[in-house]
Amino acid sequence: MKLRLQNVAARHLSAQRGKPETVRDLSLSIEAGEQIAIIGPSGAGKTTLLHVLACALKPSEGQILFDEHDPWQDGRRALQTLRASLFLAPQLPPLPPRQRVVTAVLAGRLPHQSLWTSLRSLVYPSDIPRAEAALAGFDLAEKLFDRVDRLSGGERQRVGLARALVADASLMLIDEPLSALDPMRSQSALRTLTQAARERNATLVTTLHHVEMALEHFPRILGIRDGLLAFDLPAKQVSSAHLQALYAEHLHELSNPLATQSEWPTSAQVAPPVVMHCR
Ligand SMILES: Nc1ncnc2c1ncn2[C@@H]1O[C@H](COP(=O)(O)OP(=O)(O)OP(=O)(O)O)[C@@H](O)[C@H]1O
Ligand SMILES: [Mg+2]
Repeated sequence: MKLRLQNVAARHLSAQRGKPETVRDLSLSIEAGEQIAIIGPSGAGKTTLLHVLACALKPSEGQILFDEHDPWQDGRRALQTLRASLFLAPQLPPLPPRQRVVTAVLAGRLPHQSLWTSLRSLVYPSDIPRAEAALAGFDLAEKLFDRVDRLSGGERQRVGLARALVADASLMLIDEPLSALDPMRSQSALRTLTQAARERNATLVTTLHHVEMALEHFPRILGIRDGLLAFDLPAKQVSSAHLQALYAEHLHELSNPLATQSEWPTSAQVAPPVVMHCR
């Protein structure tokens, strides 16, 4: 499925009327199977853009086209069918407190299941091996039957990512998958996600505060600043100058992206490497 945004503007649903659009004049194309990271300072509009791509947020201007077709012109049912073929993973997955991990993971299958199968799987999970395999990808298979409210924040985040794997979506949209993970788990989670997307030729778009990991794991990088597309480049072409301009006045949000790019200037010439902050 090819995706195209044409001069899209959009604003968060709960944003005050009269406030400027959160993303503005965004035009880009995404081919099936591409892997893209969206980076930019906090409040730049990364999550808003992800919601537009998921058809969770209607553009106030411009168009989103799936294979050159605007789904917002269809009826509600057609829109729901399209949404069922996409998967949007929020930064904090909504997990009912007393639910078992296996049930929480298999909730990713709900759009593909009949009402009867969905109800039955609340009592007896329908595809335990699938859930276990997805959890294993995030080193969490041993928590299969634990209650989600007994997991750490990072473990919950990985349950949300395992849910994305079982969803079998042709377009995976993942918001900040690493905010609660340590560097080693972050590396491993990105390897699992990108490999799973490659195996099924799914398109993967993720927002990331970890610039250095975005550059390492994703071939294409979108830089968003103040709701505008600052750059759309192959990762190899993203320079320290691009990052400085993108994060100007927000350099404290950068970790140390220079560590992976030996040809770039030293950190003393750019920004002090400090811990990044997520909102
Ligand atoms: N729940 C909300 N209610 C009202 N306005 C919002 C809400 N969420 C976001 N906005 C507006 O949209 C802007 C962009 O938010 P968005 O969440 O897309 O940014 P982001 O780049 O994902 O930031 P972060 O890196 O902090 O997640 C915010 O600065 C704010 O003005
Ligand atoms: Mg965000």
